[in-house]
Amino acid sequence: MKIDIIAGARPNFIKIAPVISQVIKYSKIGYNISYRLIHTGQHYDKKMSKIFFEELKIPKPDFNLEVGSGSHANQTSKIMIRYERLLNHIKPDICMVFGDVNSTLACSIVAKKFNIKIAHVEAGIRSFDLSMPEEINRIVTDSITDYFFTTSEFANKNLIKSGIEKENIFFVGNTMIDTLNNNIKKFKKPLIFDKIKLSKKQYLILTLHRPSNVDEIKTLFNLLELIDKNSENLPIIFPIHPRTKSTFNKNNFLFKNIVTIDPLSYLEFNYLVKNSKCVITDSGGITEETTVMNIPCITLRDTTERPETVLYGTNVLVGNNYKKLINSLKNLFLNNWKKGIIPELWDGKSSERIIKNLLNKINKN
Ligand code: UD1
Repeated sequence: MKIDIIAGARPNFIKIAPVISQVIKYSKIGYNISYRLIHTGQHYDKKMSKIFFEELKIPKPDFNLEVGSGSHANQTSKIMIRYERLLNHIKPDICMVFGDVNSTLACSIVAKKFNIKIAHVEAGIRSFDLSMPEEINRIVTDSITDYFFTTSEFANKNLIKSGIEKENIFFVGNTMIDTLNNNIKKFKKPLIFDKIKLSKKQYLILTLHRPSNVDEIKTLFNLLELIDKNSENLPIIFPIHPRTKSTFNKNNFLFKNIVTIDPLSYLEFNYLVKNSKCVITDSGGITEETTVMNIPCITLRDTTERPETVLYGTNVLVGNNYKKLINSLKNLFLNNWKKGIIPELWDGKSSERIIKNLLNKINKN
């Protein structure tokens, strides 16, 4: 069984690492399984890409499509054209895509037209908010997926509701948590920690990159000002995503407690998270990591495709409702935060389940 593993953007790199390890493991013990790693080049900076390969010991990609930045149509179409060229030479049995980024959508469409089976890791999650590009990517990818690997019962239900047959849905858990468990002992203190004399549980972390929060100057400014004023003067460490950086720098924003730094590596970022008082974010993946590490998390979105992080985990959704945000911060400083539990099957063994299920399924067919 030959698998093309597709990765393009930062969260993909975190999810592919343990899956590739399992493919290598099963091939070494005699199973007929191999992979090629295709990096689409959607993220290309050292800090958004290369450092993740180094730290997570991901093998060098077999191909880099080097598509770089661009509008959604521009980026997606470039990935499609360049991946199609590859498939004209060698066709795998399976194209394995991850999550909901443009690379996921682009490669699944191309591979499906070559009659290649699509395996989607993190299938079935839905925010039901079509204003998010990721939601469109999820729906389209799942509409042509053959094997659905899911992280939660919510995802299973969404898929069943949309008519997917149960036998093609594999509830395996969360590969992002495989990576977390594999690396938690290796977390690395970033330079900023000693440089500005941070102490454990005495700082917050902020990450923002959703277009709805960062593309408009006024929205971004108001959000940052509010957080700055309501943080009880604790430092707020803000590793700044390139998309956010451009708005931030153009406007010379300066806030008393907000400390902006470059994007951190995986091991450094999660060191900061593990020791923080709280994370404020608009990311999806981070809400999963904070749930497992039992760190309070405030999400600046109205919806989530990961409801388990709210129902079972440490996450609360405040959207762009400033009152809710202020109340959440008040609760935090009263040490009044809910205790989370780890969602079912987020146990570090999800990648092995994916490979075992795939081998079973393919051998049966
Ligand atoms: C993408 C994903 C999002 C994911 C996020 C993680 C889609 C639709 N969105 O959003 O789901 O949560 O990655 O980071 O696929 N840039 C750089 N260097 C890089 C990469 C990007 O400077 O290495 C800049 C580009 O100029 C671009 C901007 O950042 O304009 C946004 O990058 P892009 O990949 O288009 O989307 P993200 O916002 O990162």
